[in-house]
Amino acid sequence: MKVKISRFNPEEQRAWVQEYEVDTSACSMTVMDVLEYIGNYLDHSLAYYKHSVCNHGICGRCSVRVNGKTKLACIERVDGYESLELEPASNRKVVRDLVVL
Ligand code: FES
Repeated sequence: MKVKISRFNPEEQRAWVQEYEVDTSACSMTVMDVLEYIGNYLDHSLAYYKHSVCNHGICGRCSVRVNGKTKLACIERVDGYESLELEPASNRKVVRDLVVL
């Protein structure tokens, strides 16, 4: 699956879109699983929010826009998507990549 992620580097004040390829066919994955795969295996510099205790759609801190709609990354399954475009939650100050205040 193609995954495009809006990136932002605050030190350089640079914004860009980065594309990754993730195999999501083996098991049912959430958007958070995709982010973790990218962060662990493809790009250690990717910043996203993960609440180590929640991860069940309760705290709301993992909100991201998925193909233009706000979703909770930890519970949004990617099975129904052909590709993903991930952006930071709207109307929030971006700290880095998908992390917002
Ligand atoms: S980590 Fe709390 S809602 Fe997703």
